Amino acid sequence: METTLIILKPDAVQRGLMGRIISRFEDKGLQVVGAKLMQISQDLAARHYEAHREKPFYAGLVKFMTSSPVLVLALRGKGAIAISRKMMGATFGSNAEPGTIRGDFGVSNSFNLIHGSDSPEAAQRELELFFGDGEVLNWDRSLDQWVYDLSGGQPE
Ligand code: RTP
Ligand code: MG
Repeated sequence: METTLIILKPDAVQRGLMGRIISRFEDKGLQVVGAKLMQISQDLAARHYEAHREKPFYAGLVKFMTSSPVLVLALRGKGAIAISRKMMGATFGSNAEPGTIRGDFGVSNSFNLIHGSDSPEAAQRELELFFGDGEVLNWDRSLDQWVYDLSGGQPE
């Protein structure tokens, strides 16, 4: 099982899209194991986006991400990282496919609603940045026996 870090960005929170976006992940079968409404500090934004520090869009990105509260989620499931990225769609709302979150809910390139970890290494780093000890809960979901085929001992 993988756990990924998702951020519903300030535009998603301000536009009242949190519930609909979370529902998509729940409908897919991913399990919410962490959730936190928070305002990202300058320092946290800088650490989260350190790979983009030299990019021309960096200053605007940090300004946007710190401008208003975000909802941070830890989502768990088999293949959760790649599945979430697929569900998010292409980075820019203007060319994200219909059926994806960015494709269905936005047209903007910079206000693109959602962040998701792009690799297992990124997920581990980002989960540690945004969640403290005890904030990601390992809880048994009774539904799992119908979300996955558990007959072989592993979720399939
Ligand atoms: P994210 O990290 O937020 O999940 O998005 P991503 O992987 O699809 O995109 P990434 O290349 O990592 O870029 C991070 C965020 O920076 C903003 N961005 N603006 N104006 C631009 O050219 C530009 N390029 C990227 C977007 O908010 C993007 O999500
Ligand atoms: Mg990225």
